[in-house]
Amino acid sequence: MRPASNCPPPRFDLDGRVALVTGAGANGGIGHALALGLARAGARVAIADIDAEGLATTARELADFGPAPLARIADIAVAEDVDALFAEVDREFGRLDILVNVPFAFPSRVRPHELAAADWERMLAVNLTGYFLCCQAALRRMLSAGLGCIINIGSNAGETALGRGALPYSCTKAAVHQMTRELAVEYGGAGIRVNAILPAQTLTPGLRAHLETPRFRDHVLPRILAGLPQGRLLDPEDYVGPAVFLASDAARAVNGVLLPVDGGNLAMNGGGSHTWPA
Ligand SMILES: NC(=O)c1ccc[n+]([C@@H]2O[C@H](COP(=O)([O-])OP(=O)(O)OC[C@H]3O[C@@H](n4cnc5c(N)ncnc54)[C@H](O)[C@@H]3O)[C@@H](O)[C@H]2O)c1
Repeated sequence: MRPASNCPPPRFDLDGRVALVTGAGANGGIGHALALGLARAGARVAIADIDAEGLATTARELADFGPAPLARIADIAVAEDVDALFAEVDREFGRLDILVNVPFAFPSRVRPHELAAADWERMLAVNLTGYFLCCQAALRRMLSAGLGCIINIGSNAGETALGRGALPYSCTKAAVHQMTRELAVEYGGAGIRVNAILPAQTLTPGLRAHLETPRFRDHVLPRILAGLPQGRLLDPEDYVGPAVFLASDAARAVNGVLLPVDGGNLAMNGGGSHTWPA
């Protein structure tokens, strides 16, 4: 082993790397923050989303970091869209070092016995099959390069039960966590690392809209906050540091990890009292 003084400092920058972030079109969303964060860390970032307007806004912001980025409308649940997206990445960059999968579908929040089969199917198609199709396309490229890193965005919902109609969403997130582990084991020897970031309740445009309704603000929000030991909702920017770390050489031996970035939510014992008496 080399003496510590001869070891170079760990590299956290992503200079020269090519990253693709799917689901980067929601301004104020996690994908949007991650796309800009990876660019700030030095990566050339391509983005995809089904929301053309949001995609264009993220692309304009990314242009501050270099040439106009590749921004493509693509539904990750549609195999032809995924093929076309990755073919465009091939044409534009000739390589792919980092894939970050962010999109999710959650068309209806109803009790499981009332869930429409079509909504169940849509959640599976986007949240699970879509992630798999993108991982598969990325792996084919990364295998020939002998190098690569995939980050799937999971959820605290994939590790614990949330109730409130979250069943199909939670099931897909749990499956993404397991897919992350399987891929990490399958391809770790080929120089490819696969990890997941598990967010908790985050102040995104979706949650902001809920906060407009008194019922959510007065009844649901306090319960959410009671489960977040840091006493605040997460912010999309909270995920940037962990994602840059996972994508960087500093995390070269980090593989198959499900990293909660949740203010301590998953560490909390739901049955405890959590507070000291005043
Ligand atoms: N926001 C939270 O509180 C929270 C909590 C835990 C986990 N997460 C996870 O974090 C990720 C991002 O959440 P967010 O709240 O920032 O989402 P968001 O709505 O802000 O962004 C998701 C983006 O994905 C896009 N998208 C949806 N379906 C798509 C498809 N089929 N193909 C391509 N793009 C598609 C949307 O247009 C949107 O731009 C999701 O995977 C979500 O499950 C979020």
